[in-house]
Amino acid sequence: MNSRLSARALATLLGVWRQREPAYEALADAVRLLCLDGRIVARTGLPAERELAAELGVSRTTVASAYQSLRDTGHIESHRGAGSVTLPASQRIVELGAQRGGIDLQKACPPAWPGLAALASEVMQQATTLIGQVGYDMIGSRSLRAAIADRYSRRGLPTSPDEILVTNGAQAAIHLIASVMVGRADRVAIETPTYPHAADALRAAGARLVPLPVSSETGWDIDQVEQAFARTRPVLAYLMPVYQNPTGRSMSVREREVVVGAAGRAGTILVVDETTAELAAGDAPQPGPVLTDGLCQIVHLGSLGKTVWGGLRVGWIRAAPDILSRLVAHRPAFDLGTPDLDQAIAALAVSRMEDILPQRRALLRAGRDALLDAMATALPDWNVCVPDGGVSLWVDLGAPVSTSLVVAAHARGLHLTAGPRFGIGGGHEARVRIPFTAAPEDLRAAVGVLADVWPDVSRRAGTMVRGTALVDAVV
Ligand SMILES: Cc1ncc(COP(=O)(O)O)c(C=O)c1O
Repeated sequence: MNSRLSARALATLLGVWRQREPAYEALADAVRLLCLDGRIVARTGLPAERELAAELGVSRTTVASAYQSLRDTGHIESHRGAGSVTLPASQRIVELGAQRGGIDLQKACPPAWPGLAALASEVMQQATTLIGQVGYDMIGSRSLRAAIADRYSRRGLPTSPDEILVTNGAQAAIHLIASVMVGRADRVAIETPTYPHAADALRAAGARLVPLPVSSETGWDIDQVEQAFARTRPVLAYLMPVYQNPTGRSMSVREREVVVGAAGRAGTILVVDETTAELAAGDAPQPGPVLTDGLCQIVHLGSLGKTVWGGLRVGWIRAAPDILSRLVAHRPAFDLGTPDLDQAIAALAVSRMEDILPQRRALLRAGRDALLDAMATALPDWNVCVPDGGVSLWVDLGAPVSTSLVVAAHARGLHLTAGPRFGIGGGHEARVRIPFTAAPEDLRAAVGVLADVWPDVSRRAGTMVRGTALVDAVV
């Protein structure tokens, strides 16, 4: 067993869970959602039925029936004397909402760039040569590293191929950086909300995360940034200064200055994730890469996952050669290199990025605008700050009901991730992330589902906000 959740901790995670009758199914669905989006990991012990019933203010029969329902769907197993434990996804019999399918807005994945198949065919012309070699390498092919370095130089950050390490996507880059550059109990500053799998990788490396609040309305809280860096002196800060995921917000010049200055004074290395940084969706000029003018050290990372295709598992790290040497020395423990075939396709794609980006931007703009239009009509009370780029809207629901909304939407075949999954140390229960990477018709259908379930979600939440202490724990 990984750890055991107390009744209070589970109640906090559940939020306003009682969305429908019977109550035991609503409770079981809420726990399934927590398992689904990773807020409860596999092999976590659940509280005893009696304790959870007391904490939630429901009968023990309700909790016992919810646990039985979770056993029936393969989400938990229970043993006399040892209690109930969550199971890995591979053992689940059904997902939330009985069957998967429907509209999946949990991933913010645009479809592949339409020219990709032609690029892949072009590369296949050299297949005999490529497969006559070892087929993978730990640093990256010279041609791909040169193309990535050239792209940085064109974006205003002069770069040599020796400053580039190719990885199997940006996630592998984050994981490698976290594993090599963070020691157990080291402090790492990170935005909240953030890209959740970066937080997962840093936590797995033993980091103590220091939250840096960012809001889609007001941007980075620069007082908090200065205080957090001065007080905690983090070894790293993981940030997305351009089209931040999930808020879509970009740092102003002033915010960049404050972050770079604070990092310099604290001796913090900035890790800047630019996976979504070239995905402008509006008319405002796209911000360039963060420059430090030597005030602090910076590591950039990026990927083709959103600009070209998520299935092309190619990302990279741009850093000083001494940092790259450390990373390469530790890499074999994680993987043995990036496939040459993928790298050859990636090298062509990076060198043609100027031809690729207009299609990506048009696609994201169409998705964003379709979503905004549908929401303005069907859900006029929700507040949205329109982002200039990125992959998602970070919607303000006006009440702490994100988990309940996502549970209700799941039951109708719409799969979303609730706000708290993006938070560091709780919060964001009044927000939901809606990616605009899907096709406009799917986005309109998704808003239709949300509009259908919203009256019930908000009515029940209103009742509970007035009526119980459970909500206080979440707010
Ligand atoms: C900000 C951010 N960083 C990294 C990743 C992981 O990217 P990749 O698919 O290249 O591993 C994602 C994917 O969603 C992301 O949004």
